[in-house]
Amino acid sequence: MHQVYLAGRDNSFAAGAEETVLEAGLRQHLTLPFGCKSGGCASCRVRLLQGEVQHRLPPPALSQAELDAGYILMCLAEARSDLVLDLHQPARLERLRPRQLPVRAQARMPLSHDVIGLTLKLPRGERFDYMPGQYLDFLLEDGKRRSFSIANAPNGETLELHLRIAPGGRFAHWVRDQMPERAILRIEGPLGAFYLREDSPRPMLLMAGGTGMAPIKAMLESQLARGLQRPAHLFWGVRSREDLYLDAQLQQWTQKHAGLRYTPVLSDPDADWQGERGFVHEALLRAYPRLDGHEIYMSGPPVMVRSGKDAFIAAGLDADHLFYDSFDYAFETWPANN
Ligand SMILES: Cc1cc2nc3c(=O)[nH]c(=O)nc-3n(C[C@H](O)[C@H](O)[C@H](O)COP(=O)(O)OP(=O)(O)OC[C@H]3O[C@@H](n4cnc5c(N)ncnc54)[C@H](O)[C@@H]3O)c2cc1C
Ligand code: FES
Repeated sequence: MHQVYLAGRDNSFAAGAEETVLEAGLRQHLTLPFGCKSGGCASCRVRLLQGEVQHRLPPPALSQAELDAGYILMCLAEARSDLVLDLHQPARLERLRPRQLPVRAQARMPLSHDVIGLTLKLPRGERFDYMPGQYLDFLLEDGKRRSFSIANAPNGETLELHLRIAPGGRFAHWVRDQMPERAILRIEGPLGAFYLREDSPRPMLLMAGGTGMAPIKAMLESQLARGLQRPAHLFWGVRSREDLYLDAQLQQWTQKHAGLRYTPVLSDPDADWQGERGFVHEALLRAYPRLDGHEIYMSGPPVMVRSGKDAFIAAGLDADHLFYDSFDYAFETWPANN
């Protein structure tokens, strides 16, 4: 057994050689951040300040730059000595323990040719607290799960989601084509450690790919409602103009809030597109070649998140100020679980 200490806190827990740090912590009722439990989402990413761990497999969600900076994934790491971990999470997140509850599908509407908006109604009298940026899992009848980010700031009544209808995508197709009106669905949440660090004074750069816009929208919505405290620049990468399903709302927000800038980036634009084109992370770097002093939030396809991580850290971004949600395929498709 080794002892795991959390920097700046009084509590510690014991971890055996055959269990992951996450399993050990959860077994002893600590509130630790996690999502997929399989190395894919990086929700359980923490910095190892002291000690030695061994990952059960090369951690898929961590880039070399993050490994070099001392990050580990608690869901894959086994303790090989006593450890000191920098959890780097606010007390509020610790109070938000994930739980399961039924919700009613209140509305579904097409947002673009391959994205639908789904609004869920929370049961009356039931509180579902979350931090903007977090996600939930649908619990399917066959025991499988599907993860979707919550796209609205908490309002106590409804949860808004943006579902991409991927070719062959089981759940999203079912929601669009077969889900009965007012269906009752089971969810678990809130999950993940993607949320806005409100105590940070750093200018924010937000980067979304496709429906990666969902958690970023929730973050912006909550910030704008309270008055934007620091400059924010959003880059949204999609394939073509028709994929910019929230463009009008974002344009409106930038007109209303002087501190907010918005740059859509198209990877496959029409000939008459005057704006940014190419990979979204490259557009961000064209605007901000040096990232020292900034804070970055990004969410969307794994390939975008991976490219962004490497490029941003190489451009001087401190890895402690890089936060992301990688929209990986469903849990059961991860090699570790097959
Ligand atoms: C933290 C988190 C938050 C997310 N938030 C959102 C969100 O807000 N909106 C959103 O649209 N998505 C989001 N996702 C992604 C979403 O959970 C997955 O894409 C999920 O698999 C979709 O479920 P589905 O049943 O519709 O599609 P699935 O049946 O899971 O299939 C999705 C697509 O992936 C393909 N696919 C599946 N597995 C593989 C594989 N191993 N290799 C290659 N292709 C594969 C399928 O053929 C299909 O095209 C999120 C993921 C995570 C981890
Ligand atoms: S919970 Fe560890 S990577 Fe997802």
